[in-house]
Amino acid sequence: MTKIAPSLLAADFLHLDKAVDIVNNYADIFHLDVMDGVFVPNISFGFPVIEAVAKKAEKPMDVHLMIVEPEKYAERFAKVGASMISFHLNATEDPAGLLQSIRSWGVKSGLVINPDIPVESLFPYLKDADYVLLMSVFAGFGGQKFIEATYDRIRTLKAEIERQGLNIMIEVDGGVSVSNSKALTEAGAEILVAGSAVFKSSDPAAVIAEMRG
Ligand code: DX5
Ligand code: ZN
Repeated sequence: MTKIAPSLLAADFLHLDKAVDIVNNYADIFHLDVMDGVFVPNISFGFPVIEAVAKKAEKPMDVHLMIVEPEKYAERFAKVGASMISFHLNATEDPAGLLQSIRSWGVKSGLVINPDIPVESLFPYLKDADYVLLMSVFAGFGGQKFIEATYDRIRTLKAEIERQGLNIMIEVDGGVSVSNSKALTEAGAEILVAGSAVFKSSDPAAVIAEMRG
């Protein structure tokens, strides 16, 4: 079954406990977007917020790093309880080395690319990754419009994962909602990140259930 990873970026930060309850009770994974204002033109949150979520989280925490030099901070995210850590391919000099380090801490390693980076640029690194996060909007902000070219990118990536005989999950992030979740799953996505669709809804549980299919 498709796993749903609500992005806390769209939650009400004054009542983060409510968002945490929604993920614990109805979803599969916490998606935590860390932005540094350098790799992307926005700043979100960091260690104190993730440590607070970790105290109540009953589901795995997936940290999506949108920061330069992710190798400087990745281990601290592992120490505060991340089960999955992803970073952008073009944010670091040595993606393979960082993927291997993340795995060595007992954490699932993920590579991310924005919509303008060819999927083929991931291929040399797939053997060191446990998942790939395909952005279906440009990283930096919630609430953007889903980019339709994502379906073909998922299929291309899926075919290469199979060709290499690897066990890698495909996660999709940006503009995901009940209107595209079924098509994304059919194309080969196994984890769907959704911020606005879940937390701006009056019935997050129903949205999550429908997206799961
Ligand atoms: C954007 C983040 C996303 C974002 C998704 O840079 O990586 O995780 O929160 O938000 P929605 O689902 O609103 O597009
Ligand atoms: Zn994200």
